[in-house]
Amino acid sequence: MQTSPPIQVTGLHQRYGGFEAVAGISFDVREGELYALLGTNGAGKTTTLETLEGHRPAHAGTVRVLGRDPHRDRRDVRPRIGIMLQEGGFFGDLTVAETVAHWRGFTPRPRDPDEVIGPAGLADRADVRVRQLSGGQKRRLDLALALLGRPEVLFLDEPTTGMDPEARRATWTIVRDVVDAGTTVLLTTHYLEEAERLADRLAIMHRGRIELAGTVREVVAGHGDRISFRLPERFQVAELPALGGVRAGIEVDGGRAVATYTVTGQGLQAGLYDLLRWADGRRVALDGLHARSASLEDVFLSTAEGADQ
Ligand SMILES: Nc1ncnc2c1ncn2[C@@H]1O[C@H](COP(=O)(O)OP(=O)(O)O)[C@@H](O)[C@H]1O
Ligand SMILES: [Mg+2]
Repeated sequence: MQTSPPIQVTGLHQRYGGFEAVAGISFDVREGELYALLGTNGAGKTTTLETLEGHRPAHAGTVRVLGRDPHRDRRDVRPRIGIMLQEGGFFGDLTVAETVAHWRGFTPRPRDPDEVIGPAGLADRADVRVRQLSGGQKRRLDLALALLGRPEVLFLDEPTTGMDPEARRATWTIVRDVVDAGTTVLLTTHYLEEAERLADRLAIMHRGRIELAGTVREVVAGHGDRISFRLPERFQVAELPALGGVRAGIEVDGGRAVATYTVTGQGLQAGLYDLLRWADGRRVALDGLHARSASLEDVFLSTAEGADQ
């Protein structure tokens, strides 16, 4: 039985020359969990993944995969993990079926080719040469190869970059099935929706650090729900009500002033109630009234801005 989490990162630092690409990060991924590293380009996601895949030793700190050091114990660890690199390398002249057959030769207990080609949505492409595949199909072939060896731990570096929305959705289904079957997955992405859909927990990385981590709900909590409407013609901002103690701010949208409130905690429902009562009492129509809960996007943008200041 696995006692410690399959992926453990403690105080990891990673440098390229004098440049610190990963500046002391820690996180664990539990068995059967999908954990997403979310971040803009250059955040240090690929560097972190490559360290966990055993491509290079940690500069400082420790990483453990399946309880072992993935660099030092590469021979033991490598057969138990699946890797989908950010840039896969294929022989363009081989067909999809030939590529899978070739890779099976490197894998101790490979699945049947059909077990990976079909779910990857490549059944009708099996005899097509790899160089003729679309970008999205190549990514899915990469995913199929990563699954070939029945990995206990799967690393996916931006698995859906370059895919159209339909292919992206199909890939999410495959990944979700893999997780449901008990595989532990660490995935990097810069797509918020991908992290929101797939991740049991996630970390937002920026410039080599983890700025926030937890479930989507935890990460979003306390980041402010929003209420907005067009400033009614006959009112000044100062005349608008405070909602749960929050005063309105003004943004300009398409040449029109828009009143906005950012409320936290239980403020959205209570604030809306106060606002509607106020409007009702004064017979004000609230044009363009908009209320929404904080999203991962709000948090992501404010994290990057905050960290850059
Ligand atoms: N081989 C390398 N040599 C020097 N700098 C690198 C190298 N690889 C990555 N970097 C730099 O390290 C930082 C993190 O890169 P990376 O881990 O690829 O981030 P991400 O995957 O989040 O986009 C970036 O600033 C990148 O330019
Ligand atoms: Mg990357």
